[in-house]
Amino acid sequence: MCGIVGYVGFDPATPILLKGLEKLEYRGYDSAGVAVYDEKDGLRIEKAKGKLRVLCEKLHDGKDVNGTIGIGHTRWATHGAPSDINSHPQVSDHGKFAVVHNGIIENYLTLKEFLLGKGITFVSETDTEVIAQLLEYYYEGNIFSALVKVLQKLEGSYALGVICTDAPNELYAVRKDSPLIVGLGKGENFIASDVPAILSKTRDIYRLKDQEIVKLTRNQVEVLNMDGARIEKEKVHIDWDVNAAEKGGYEHFMFKEIMEQPKALRDTISPRLRDGRIVLDDITLTREQVEKIRRICVVACGSAYHVGMVAKYTLEKLTRIPVEAEVASELRYRDPIIDKSTLVIVVSQSGETADTLAALREAKKRGARVLSIVNVVGSSIANESDDVIYTWAGPEIAVATTKAYSTQLAVVYMIAIYLADLLGKLSPEEYENYIQCLQKLPEQVEDALKDKESIQYFASKYFNAKDIFFIGRNLDYALSMEGSLKLKEISYIHSEAYAAGELKHGTISLIENGTLVVALATIDSLFEKIMSNVKEVKARGAYVLGVTTREHTAIQSEADYAFYVPKTCEMMQPSLAVIPLQLFAYYVAAMKGCDIDKPRNLAKSVTVE
Ligand code: AGP
Ligand code: GLU
Repeated sequence: MCGIVGYVGFDPATPILLKGLEKLEYRGYDSAGVAVYDEKDGLRIEKAKGKLRVLCEKLHDGKDVNGTIGIGHTRWATHGAPSDINSHPQVSDHGKFAVVHNGIIENYLTLKEFLLGKGITFVSETDTEVIAQLLEYYYEGNIFSALVKVLQKLEGSYALGVICTDAPNELYAVRKDSPLIVGLGKGENFIASDVPAILSKTRDIYRLKDQEIVKLTRNQVEVLNMDGARIEKEKVHIDWDVNAAEKGGYEHFMFKEIMEQPKALRDTISPRLRDGRIVLDDITLTREQVEKIRRICVVACGSAYHVGMVAKYTLEKLTRIPVEAEVASELRYRDPIIDKSTLVIVVSQSGETADTLAALREAKKRGARVLSIVNVVGSSIANESDDVIYTWAGPEIAVATTKAYSTQLAVVYMIAIYLADLLGKLSPEEYENYIQCLQKLPEQVEDALKDKESIQYFASKYFNAKDIFFIGRNLDYALSMEGSLKLKEISYIHSEAYAAGELKHGTISLIENGTLVVALATIDSLFEKIMSNVKEVKARGAYVLGVTTREHTAIQSEADYAFYVPKTCEMMQPSLAVIPLQLFAYYVAAMKGCDIDKPRNLAKSVTVE
């Protein structure tokens, strides 16, 4: 999910690889490595956990490693904790192939078992190592043919850079659902996961499509399809500046991350769906253990806590086990009723939030079993939990979370369906319906994102608002909390989230002429109820943005402006309804000229109490 750079030319490769990786640092990573080939020294692999600086110092900025062909990598761990051994490049058993990989190989366990059965030894915990091993296994003197055979076996996402000691002047690359470009130089050629890595060397590139295989030498770049037929590629000239290039042409990381949500969801959901069933390899809870759970307690902070609120509604509805969602900083300082019959679910993007970690420790002290939903592999919360389900959102750079939040929701749905099924609470039809909804979700989010101009237009009218209210019921209330926080943290506009039925008990006194109210009405059974609340605020002069699903056009009779999202099952509706809320916060903050990716007073990872 992070960075790849590859070089073949006449100059020393290592400094070029290290400089290229440095330009990809913005993508976030936990370790780095290079593989460089030299006639005299052979294949040299150098890797280090931690910052790229560590690797650069070790190699004296590359001066210590000879060779004019090589591949480099910054890793964002998904399979196996960050460590020197798990860092890339990964090398085949007899040292013939070195591979760098971004992405996730979904069927790596099956492939690994197959290779272990052939007597091949593995050294790392990564999914990537199977690629290097398979290449050597299928290699019969033709690298291209071996690569095609391997690609036919791989399921999942990948961008790959490959070198082989038998062909010291050839670099191979291919991608599927992970980014990779080719840089075209004079007497030198490059591969990279993103443009900034090669911008100081060339501005001419090829954009690769899925499963186009590239063979690069110093003087030639050949792009072939899986049958070996040549593909004529169109040369693209890049004229962005380096800054824009880092953000993939977007102005802010937050927007880039909003747009990455369909992919993040696909990466998180699809490896866990096999033959129409949810497979959570990561959970070791047995049916007997689940039957003994008397209470579930979801603990987290900020947006992750809002995921907890969704989890409360969802888990309770499906499993009929009582669920509480609690802010971590509160839980740790009371005398919570948590014991060995409690399942504590901890939610955290960073896996390092101090309050959440302390709450986890408190829960464990009281004998609870802890299942965590975490984005950063090998983080403290992941390490200290009994079970971890990773969200595969990739690194999130913007302080305001978007894609991590969305993938956390997806994991919550999967846990709810999984537990309800273990407890025998779902009919086969219900189960199948949920699986279909999960499968469709990434595409539907993509669909919701297409309407962004409509939200942009609305934001242009309201970016000067002083106070904004978000109202909803049930899951829409949980979502109101997230919409309101998103807006507050990046636009600095005061906002409140309210359970729609609760407004009349006090807060409605704040509604006056022109006050903006965002009314969420995505739950069919509560649509009429929310319409009544919309009437209440309109009668006090509010201006209302209604968010609902596409068949509820009746919203137009009450709300001043409507935004429609695609429809899914009630439980998963928050994943679609959150899109306009994220976009609204983003556009308002952009129009106000705020520092969107680094809002004042906030940090991405809050490691203090
Ligand atoms: C979300 O936009 C915030 N920046 C913040 O609320 C965040 O969700 C919270 O600090 C929890 O962080 P974590 O997920 O890394 O534990
Ligand atoms: N899945 C691979 C690993 O965990 C690649 C991760 C990445 O994209 O950096 O090593």
